[in-house]
Amino acid sequence: MLKTKMTELFGIQHPIMLAGMNWVTEPKLVAAVCNAGGLGMLAIARFNPKETKESIKQVRDMTDKPFGVNQILIGPGAKENISVAIEEKVPIINYSLGKPWFVNDVHAYGGKVMGTIAISKHATKAVQMGCDALAVTGHEAAAHGAAATSMVLIPLVASMVKVPLIAAGGFYNGQGLAAALALGADGISMGSRFMLTTESIVHENFKKLCLEATEQDTLYSHVFDGLDGRVLKTKEAEKMMKRGFPLFDAFRGALLVKKLLNLSFPKFMAVTIEMLRAEEGHNLWVLARQAVGNMKHLIALDEGDVEKGILFAGQACGGITDIPTTKELIDRVIAEAETTLSKLNALKA
Ligand SMILES: Cc1cc2nc3c(=O)[nH]c(=O)nc-3n(C[C@H](O)[C@H](O)[C@H](O)COP(=O)(O)O)c2cc1C
Repeated sequence: MLKTKMTELFGIQHPIMLAGMNWVTEPKLVAAVCNAGGLGMLAIARFNPKETKESIKQVRDMTDKPFGVNQILIGPGAKENISVAIEEKVPIINYSLGKPWFVNDVHAYGGKVMGTIAISKHATKAVQMGCDALAVTGHEAAAHGAAATSMVLIPLVASMVKVPLIAAGGFYNGQGLAAALALGADGISMGSRFMLTTESIVHENFKKLCLEATEQDTLYSHVFDGLDGRVLKTKEAEKMMKRGFPLFDAFRGALLVKKLLNLSFPKFMAVTIEMLRAEEGHNLWVLARQAVGNMKHLIALDEGDVEKGILFAGQACGGITDIPTTKELIDRVIAEAETTLSKLNALKA
C-alpha cells in the first residue's frame, strides 16, 4: 500500500489516476479503475448536458467509490456540462485548458477541483484560484503537453505549490510511479497505458498500433487540433504534418461538433462569438481546428480506420507490451513501485 497526499485527499486506495480522455474514458472504464482502488476520471467534453448526467449516473450504478469528471474548458458546452457535474455533486472536477470559474460551487458541496497544467507558472495561478490538486502534464504525454518533460516539470512545480500533484505524461509502470514520487508528485495519471486495457473501448486496430509503436512513433505538433499536442504516428497524422491545416475539413468539423453537442444554430453562433472574444488565443480558429481533431479521432476510435484516423497517444506506448484488465494493471504498477522503492532504500550505505 502506498499512502500519499493524493490518496488522502480523494479517499482512494492507490495513487493512480485514469487520465480524463475524451471519447475513451466512458463509464465502464471509469468504474473499473475506481473499483480497482484508483481514481477514475469520466471525460465529458464530447457530451451534451443530458448525456453528461446519464453518464455520471452510469458510473454511480457501477461503483460507490470516489470518481471525477474531466472537462476541457474551451469549446461549446463546457459551462453547461460543469453545471450538471455540480448539480450531481461529482466528488472531483478536473478541468484543462481554461480558468475555473466554479471552484466555490464545488467546494460548497465538499467536492474538490483538480486543475491540469503543463507550464509551471500556471501552477501558482491555479492554486490561487482555489484548486485542491494539480495534474502536471509533461511533454511525453498524449494530447496537450507543453515543452517541458515530466523530469523537469514535476520537481519544479513541487517546489512552487503545496497541493497534491498528480504527474501525467510518460507513466506506464511502477518504476514510473516510484520516480514520480521521488520527483515530488503524490501519484500518477496514466492515459496511454489505460487505453490499452481490456475495458477500454479504443478500437482493436488502434490498440494493436499502440502496442507495436516504439517510443519514437508519436508526432507532436499544433496541426492536429490547433493546440500543441501528441498523436500516434499514422498515415493521416504524417499527411497533416506535411500539408498543414485543412480549411475545408475545419468547416465540416465545426458543423459536426454542433450536431454532436445538439446545439441550435443561434446557440452555436453565440458560443462562436463568445470564443472569438476569449482569452489565451482560444478563438474561433482554435474551435474549428479542434473540430477537425475530433472528427479524425472518431474515425480512429469508432471505425478503426488506421489510414484516415488520428489518435492522441503518448511516448509511453513504446513501453507498453500487453492489454491487461485495469485491476491487473493497477495491482502490477503498485507491486512494481513497492519493489522499486525497496530497492532504492537498500542502496543506502
Ligand atoms: C485519446 C485521448 C484523449 C484525451 N482527451 C483529453 C481530454 O478530454 N481532457 C484532458 O484534459 N486531457 C485529455 N487527454 C490527455 C490525458 O488526460 C493525459 O494528460 C495524457 O494521456 C497523459 O499522458 P500519457 O498518455 O503519457 O499517460 C487525452 C489523451 C488521450 C490519449
